[in-house]
Amino acid sequence: MILEDRIEANVMIWRERMNRLIKEHGDYVISNVTVAQICSGIRGVPIQISDISFVEPESGLRYRTYSINEVLNLLPRAEGSRYPLTGGIYYLLMGNEIPTYAKAMQVEDEWRKRAQVPKYVYDIIDAFPETASPMSMFSAAILSMSAQSKFYQEYQKGMPKDKYWYVMLDDSLDLTARTPRIAAYIYNKKYRNNQQIQPDENLDLAANFAHMLGNDDPAYAELMRLFMLLHMDHENANVSAHTAHLVGSALSDIYLSCSAGLNGLSGPLHGLANQECCNWLLNLCKEYNGVPTTDQIREYVLKTLAEGRVIPGYGHAVLRCVDPRFTAQMEFGKRNLPDDVLFRTAMNVFAVVPDILKATGKVSNPWPNVDAITGTLQQHYGIKETDFYTVLFGTSRIMGFTAHVVWARALGKPIERPKALTTRMLEAMISGSSYR
Ligand SMILES: CC(C)(COP(=O)(O)OP(=O)(O)OC[C@H]1O[C@@H](n2cnc3c(N)ncnc32)[C@H](O)[C@@H]1OP(=O)(O)O)[C@@H](O)C(=O)NCCC(=O)NCCS
Repeated sequence: MILEDRIEANVMIWRERMNRLIKEHGDYVISNVTVAQICSGIRGVPIQISDISFVEPESGLRYRTYSINEVLNLLPRAEGSRYPLTGGIYYLLMGNEIPTYAKAMQVEDEWRKRAQVPKYVYDIIDAFPETASPMSMFSAAILSMSAQSKFYQEYQKGMPKDKYWYVMLDDSLDLTARTPRIAAYIYNKKYRNNQQIQPDENLDLAANFAHMLGNDDPAYAELMRLFMLLHMDHENANVSAHTAHLVGSALSDIYLSCSAGLNGLSGPLHGLANQECCNWLLNLCKEYNGVPTTDQIREYVLKTLAEGRVIPGYGHAVLRCVDPRFTAQMEFGKRNLPDDVLFRTAMNVFAVVPDILKATGKVSNPWPNVDAITGTLQQHYGIKETDFYTVLFGTSRIMGFTAHVVWARALGKPIERPKALTTRMLEAMISGSSYR
């Protein structure tokens, strides 16, 4: 299998690099951690080494070493498309190399072979009450596939440690092949009277996902190719990716790890923000009966802030620039839906909000992040149910989770176990007294 061959050819080099770092520079001090950092979500404290993606504060996301623009330009594209094949992005994350078209297609073919979802998974989704959130259904469906885990089965038989990653990769390909079908099933069950749409084996993964969501407009397939590319990973220290990695470090299988990661993604300060952002924009248009003027937007933004709320889609814990994932989607919108009311509103908001946030004097990053526009584009193509947006996000992000977990096993990374202190210990450390 192409990804297995590629990782196998490189794994010793990466293991040696890591082992050399530990052996020769194990005592090198990277940072001193302050009381404020410990008390504020271990913000900015380096906690691990991860080569799959990185977020540069001043320029944004990099997959391996490539910027979003480079990835968009260099990766092989689906036939007749201006956007890369999802199989090629996955190859880049897993294999650390820009693939040829043939290699990207081999990953797509691998997904095609593995996409059948066991029936019991659909039964589990069906057992949820109507009021259940689509993210809970999605996470539970993925968790339930742990019953299929080849890693778990081989581990029980005493598989040697250096074989772990092979089986984790095998499980990862099964999982990533199936998640679009599971997500589409949940969508059609919840919002389209359970009218399920059969997959089209001739399409690439992203286009097939768009098709199963009920929209065969080629422009929507293009949007989903872009969407999958932009949402796949964002450094391994954010809540969801780090959760998946942490759970995986206990040698939990890929289904347990990714389900846990998705539960983190479900939080409003993380993946759920795209839903909140879209709802905020929809309410803004409703309040002013269409595309609001600059003055109306200013009034609405100030009202939101006065109510003690944040402006969704703006700000970021790491970024200090316009998120390139926002820019890529903005360019898609300008090309494909320039007259859309919600899109024009999102553009006008972009023209107004950064200056207002700067003027507060406290917002570290006044610029839009990916969520400031994602929902706007989905609305245009008929995916109106904003509470489904985090499932869309998760369908792509799971691919990033799996790349990190597979490589953690390939490099033999140990179980994570940082240290918790008591308040008394900390006070005693500061005053130089004993805490006992
Ligand atoms: C993403 C986010 C959680 C980052 O949090 P953070 O790193 O603590 O952000 P900051 O350091 O800039 O926060 C400093 C202050 O600015 C405020 N702030 C940050 N972003 C803001 C926004 N979009 N609107 C209003 N105020 C904001 C914070 O609430 C904080 O105020 P406080 O000191 O009164 O508590 C935050 O910017 C936010 O809530 N944004 C909106 C939600 C969103 O888009 N999330 C998706 C992220 S991909």
